Amino acid sequence: METIEQLRQQVENLQNQVKQQEKMATLGLLTAGIVHEIRNPLNFVINFSKLSDGLIKDLGDDLEDNADRIGADDLEDIRDLMDSLRENLQKIREHGDRAISIIQNILLYSRGKEDEFIPTDVCKLVKEYVWLSYHAMRASLKNFNISIEESYEEGIPLQPVVPQDLSRAVLNVMNNACYAVWEKSQQTASGYKPMVSVKVCRQGQELAVSITDNGTGMSEEVKRRLFETFFTTKPTGQGTGLGMYITRNIIEMKHHGRIEFDSEEGKFTTFSLIIPLKG
Ligand SMILES: Nc1ncnc2c1ncn2[C@@H]1O[C@H](COP(=O)(O)OP(=O)(O)OP(=O)(O)O)[C@@H](O)[C@H]1O
Ligand SMILES: [Mg+2]
Repeated sequence: METIEQLRQQVENLQNQVKQQEKMATLGLLTAGIVHEIRNPLNFVINFSKLSDGLIKDLGDDLEDNADRIGADDLEDIRDLMDSLRENLQKIREHGDRAISIIQNILLYSRGKEDEFIPTDVCKLVKEYVWLSYHAMRASLKNFNISIEESYEEGIPLQPVVPQDLSRAVLNVMNNACYAVWEKSQQTASGYKPMVSVKVCRQGQELAVSITDNGTGMSEEVKRRLFETFFTTKPTGQGTGLGMYITRNIIEMKHHGRIEFDSEEGKFTTFSLIIPLKG
């Protein structure tokens, strides 16, 4: 029999979960809005760099037409400058295109219909969210400076997953890893090299996404409680204690997989998100 106190606690936990989910829904809408707003100016950047490329071509034609009126040295200089300009424009366009594709993916994940399984390049998804987490952590933690090692197996077929959910799971685990190495770097004297390594590979009939960090590691108590709702060791404002709970739901309930972990206090932590391999 559950006591009134236990029931009261459960109700409170559920209320908190609802609040948290409402917050996340708002965040999803906000992301979609921001992404939309950023796409417009980015399109300007890309289109104007294309236009400018055309102008340089015209300029080049004019120059060649009048080559005989310009000294040989000057002509050489102008051609070099124009080559550099063309290269710069090319870079602007390339990186603009890259930004657009990142943004389109975020939009896809934050808007995708709930529970829709979509054939997905898991390596690409993991890579994107690993770096999204890295940049978000760098923006929010002081002196955040880590190296990331990545290894993605080639030739893994597209996997039917719920992309916005799987990406949230990767983000949660990566955020924790980043935080753990950052926390250790704050406690440790110089000489410590904060490091997170990410690996996606096939293991028999399964696909494993593993994230290892050489951060604070976990005590026996943390290992026991880490999937509990609202269990956190972080200061208020830094953690809600829902990350691993949500991650477990996503991996185990939605994707019929499992989570494995290994950790030694003060040394390292590895989390592996393992889902059945299809195709
Ligand atoms: N890579 C890790 N290294 C060390 N401790 C970890 C790691 N991952 C998780 N933990 C421990 O597990 C706890 C629970 O993690 P969880 O992601 O559920 O919550 P959180 O990170 O505290 O908050 P949030 O809801 O913002 O994710 C953390 O507070 C931390 O103590
Ligand atoms: Mg977390």
